[in-house]
Amino acid sequence: MHALIINGSPRVKKYSNTDKILLKFTEGMAGSGSTFEQYEISDRLQWEKIRQAFSESENILIALPLYVENIPGLLLEFLSTVEPRNGEAKMSFLLQSGFAEGCQLRCGEAYLEKLAGRLGCSYGGTLVKGDNFSIRLFEGEQREKVTGRYTAMGRIYGRDGNFSDPACKAFTGPEVFPLPIRLLVGLMMKTLAKKGFDKAAKEWGCERPLSDRPYAVR
Ligand SMILES: Cc1cc2nc3c(=O)[nH]c(=O)nc-3n(C[C@H](O)[C@H](O)[C@H](O)COP(=O)(O)O)c2cc1C
Repeated sequence: MHALIINGSPRVKKYSNTDKILLKFTEGMAGSGSTFEQYEISDRLQWEKIRQAFSESENILIALPLYVENIPGLLLEFLSTVEPRNGEAKMSFLLQSGFAEGCQLRCGEAYLEKLAGRLGCSYGGTLVKGDNFSIRLFEGEQREKVTGRYTAMGRIYGRDGNFSDPACKAFTGPEVFPLPIRLLVGLMMKTLAKKGFDKAAKEWGCERPLSDRPYAVR
């Protein structure tokens, strides 16, 4: 099987978590004897090539991050420029996000199923998984721990050309965390994580506090 893979993140390839996930996912695909070509929506210079590949491919996989609980605007802008297919292509999605609970990706997932139909494609399913905030902050073994789990999913996609396998459904993990975990996460966000975010912001040149609300109505 050959697949057209589109990274739908607006972040440039170098900084895109989706790209790091695809690196591992495509390792799995190759293990199943599948091939792929990958493009990035963040690079507008590739758009013409992607449109061409979109019009010719039998298997299309869009890998995308959840942005504000749904699909990134830049990806939508690109998709509004493609010619819908005539039912001869299968469109699947890899939807990933920062927060870990599966429930917050379900609205995006429902939209993606509709989107495949609107673009004249059959729907090959969506691989849904959160807990990916930290990929670009991690290196080496720590990063491998988060992204490495996608290799097995790539193997299945390379074998089946879709995400119908029960292992892909189970891959999401918990829909909602139990109450004690939710309380613990809330506490961590206010303490440890806040410290980490403040440090990262400083390193990236942020001069005002993260709690700054310059547009707040006073
Ligand atoms: C503008 C913006 C909005 C985001 N919205 C959400 C969200 O609603 N839910 C969530 O879990 N993660 C959200 N995230 C986190 C991203 O989904 C997550 O970091 C993802 O791994 C980024 O992938 P990328 O680097 O390929 O863009 C958001 C990130 C950004 C920058």
